Amino acid sequence: MSGLAFGPALMARLHELARFSDEPDRLTRLYLSPAHRRAMGQVAAWMTEAGMAVRIDAVGNVVGRYEASQPDAPAVLIGSHIDTVIDAGKYDGALGVLAGIAAVDALRRAGERLPVAIEVIAFGDEEGVRFPTTLTGSRTIAGTLAPGVLEARDADGVSLREALAAAGCNGDAFAGCARRPEDTLAYLEVHIEQGPVLEAENLPVGVVTAINGASRWRVEVTGEAGHAGTVPMALRRDALAAAAEMVLAVEREGRAMEDLVATVGQIEARPGAVNVVPGEVRFTLDLRAPSDAVRKAAGAVLDETFAAIAERRGVTLAIERFQDAAAVSCDPALIEQLTAAIERAGVAPRLLPSGAGHDAMALAALCPIAMLFVRCARGISHNPAEAISAADADLAVRVLLDFLRHAACDLRTS
Ligand code: HGY
Ligand code: MN
Ligand code: MN
Repeated sequence: MSGLAFGPALMARLHELARFSDEPDRLTRLYLSPAHRRAMGQVAAWMTEAGMAVRIDAVGNVVGRYEASQPDAPAVLIGSHIDTVIDAGKYDGALGVLAGIAAVDALRRAGERLPVAIEVIAFGDEEGVRFPTTLTGSRTIAGTLAPGVLEARDADGVSLREALAAAGCNGDAFAGCARRPEDTLAYLEVHIEQGPVLEAENLPVGVVTAINGASRWRVEVTGEAGHAGTVPMALRRDALAAAAEMVLAVEREGRAMEDLVATVGQIEARPGAVNVVPGEVRFTLDLRAPSDAVRKAAGAVLDETFAAIAERRGVTLAIERFQDAAAVSCDPALIEQLTAAIERAGVAPRLLPSGAGHDAMALAALCPIAMLFVRCARGISHNPAEAISAADADLAVRVLLDFLRHAACDLRTS
């Protein structure tokens, strides 16, 4: 791609980072896994090459700092996550970290220092797939991480504290990683849209207005295991049939309430034998909406519906609500700055909400936030078919750089 200053090199690094996987034939890089720890090392090396002072903090965030023209200046944070879902795409999260490194490297090569410091942060646990937690890294930076999170255990019974220790991190020191608002001017995240809007309107980038709130539940239904050949249908307490009715209630609720999305992403029936009536089922619920009131109302409806189904079918119900992230709005002044940067790049600015969650939701507790969305093919994400173009990646870095050069002064003096 001739004339693209950043795109080809950025795409090459994204593909290189995608090789850091815990599975041989697909990209899966869960928080603090061997592949995540190797990826931390690679990202730290790229940050160092870009002229940043690099450290790994108590919860495994990789933090690179590019000093301002004056020492100890407050910083603009740029970041995203380098953990992935299972069988992931190459760009979700990684794009925001590597685009930030590319922008800082461009400043270094130009011998440029801004009136603000820049910190690029590779968060380690945005997806929340390994432990029943999410946004662990970004919440730590924002100073909102609950201490109990260190006791969270993965499917193998490994606690977050133990996994951090195995990665050489002292999780108990997480409180010391929290940033002071006076040291943090803004947080900017570059991220693939993970939706179809920009592609449908033939736009390469967009500016995020707000991020939907999200709830995550773990639901356990307990009935009675029995012989598939001998237990009469009328006498069964079939946990899977009960859970199936609940799953359909989730879909019905998601369709009934405007702007709500409701998903059961995981379900497991035990003991899981062809000739045994399932005695126990565990499934997850993911509820999202731009309005917290809508999301909470949907949660209340599903609470009641699940209880009624359980009552009627003679099964018991246990619900663990392990995530409740409020919807957050992006900062109007930053939206304006980002919009201006996109216009200076000769692109029509498009404002749009984010249905997906991001580390920016956590950083909103610390400082003003902004997000730059990048078009992705057919809006596909959380899927190996996730794809972006080198030209769009190139534009994202150019807009990011332009934003930093123009906004830095305003942010420093505001
Ligand atoms: O689930 C989400 O929205 C994000 O990708 N973790
Ligand atoms: Mn993401
Ligand atoms: Mn994701």
